[in-house]
Amino acid sequence: MFGLFKKKEKAAPSPEEKAASVFDKLGGAPAIDAAVDIFYRKVLADDRISHFFDTIDMEAQHVKQKAFLTMAFGGPNNYSGKDMREAHKHMNLTEEHFNAVAENLVGTLQELGVSQEDIDSVVTIAVSVKDDVLNK
Ligand code: HEM
Repeated sequence: MFGLFKKKEKAAPSPEEKAASVFDKLGGAPAIDAAVDIFYRKVLADDRISHFFDTIDMEAQHVKQKAFLTMAFGGPNNYSGKDMREAHKHMNLTEEHFNAVAENLVGTLQELGVSQEDIDSVVTIAVSVKDDVLNK
């Protein structure tokens, strides 16, 4: 009952809500294009993980990643690919591979001038699919 007299406090924003602002801050859909370009350049230059993409149609992958990043950054959700578990099932991915991808994502956001706080929100969302990606 004492709650009635309490000033209503606004709940702290969830990682999804914070990430939504990242999508806007980056400049919406066109900026995601730039982010995916930078991200892939980094991934393909990274000896720890580039071999996974040797036989992949990067054009198609780019489109999928764009939709995924849009979702991770809190933009309109139009990702319709296989779920993360299915997509990565046969790759025998390890924690090290996951961390390498995450590092490249962080590096991309830093290059785009995203604040550490916003980077943390995006990483929280990426980490939330980690067990699926690693098929744990
Ligand atoms: C946060 C982590 C990750 C996210 C959000 C992510 C997201 C995605 C998405 C959306 C796709 C497309 C799925 C489809 O519709 O077919 C995909 C495919 C793929 N991912 Fe990831 N991924 C992650 C981690 C990784 C890691 C750690 C690796 C390897 C180092 C990796 C390698 C690949 C490869 C090679 C494909 C292509 C599969 C194919 O077309 O056969 N991913 N990923």
